[in-house]
Amino acid sequence: MRGPFRIEGYAIASADGMIADETGGYPKSLRFDADQKYLRESLDRAAIIVQGRNSGTGQPNWRKRLRLIMTHEVASLAPHPDIPNARFWNPGGASLEEACAAVGGARGTVAIIGGPEVYSYFLQIGYDDFHLSRAETIYLPGGEPLFAKGHLGQKPEEVLASAGLKPGPTQRLEDGVSLVDWRREPIRRADRSSAARGSKPVDMDRGER
Ligand SMILES: NC(=O)c1ccc[n+]([C@@H]2O[C@H](COP(=O)([O-])OP(=O)(O)OC[C@H]3O[C@@H](n4cnc5c(N)ncnc54)[C@H](OP(=O)(O)O)[C@@H]3O)[C@@H](O)[C@H]2O)c1
Repeated sequence: MRGPFRIEGYAIASADGMIADETGGYPKSLRFDADQKYLRESLDRAAIIVQGRNSGTGQPNWRKRLRLIMTHEVASLAPHPDIPNARFWNPGGASLEEACAAVGGARGTVAIIGGPEVYSYFLQIGYDDFHLSRAETIYLPGGEPLFAKGHLGQKPEEVLASAGLKPGPTQRLEDGVSLVDWRREPIRRADRSSAARGSKPVDMDRGER
């Protein structure tokens, strides 16, 4: 947790870990009805969506959702000229909390929908969950890896594991498309007074230590 906000990432990657093709575009081969439905329903439950300048506009309801569009083009925060529910956000000039407040979000899930720079930036803030869909038979050689570390050969799973997330069971969204929820494990820390009394350790969220 980041204060009142839960940080959750959503992506669909090819079998070789790419989220865009060699042109930098989002290919039709990564578009699956069951995954789109899963994403749409998840985003409908989120308080705020965070995206890069080129992501996220294809989703139904996208104008209705509270949205932060990351860009270096503004110093900190600026209104979107056409979309009242969106703000441009440069994290170099305003914190996540300031950005959420600017767009009218006080608490709840902040859904990170990419692309790669945005996913990578939120590794520093810390994901509570990362929902990784996989198109198991699609390969995108020369494509854009999910995380910047993919350019150094790291698979998305390796990046998520080194960020302290643990995989849940593999779920099947449809033929050829799986979903794994990677979740931050609560850190178990012995409460001194409990330990002194010989009782079990308490669960503590890593973000609250
Ligand atoms: N398969 C999937 O699940 C998935 C998900 C998302 C996106 N995609 C695809 O991936 C491709 C790339 O997406 P994208 O270009 O939107 O994402 P991106 O490469 O992460 O970021 C695009 C822009 O967002 C801004 N930005 C990102 N990080 C920032 C930071 N830390 N501070 C300030 N601004 C920042 C920058 O805008 P400025 O240049 O204005 O500074 C950057 O050029 C697209 O083809 C998209 O469709 C695929």
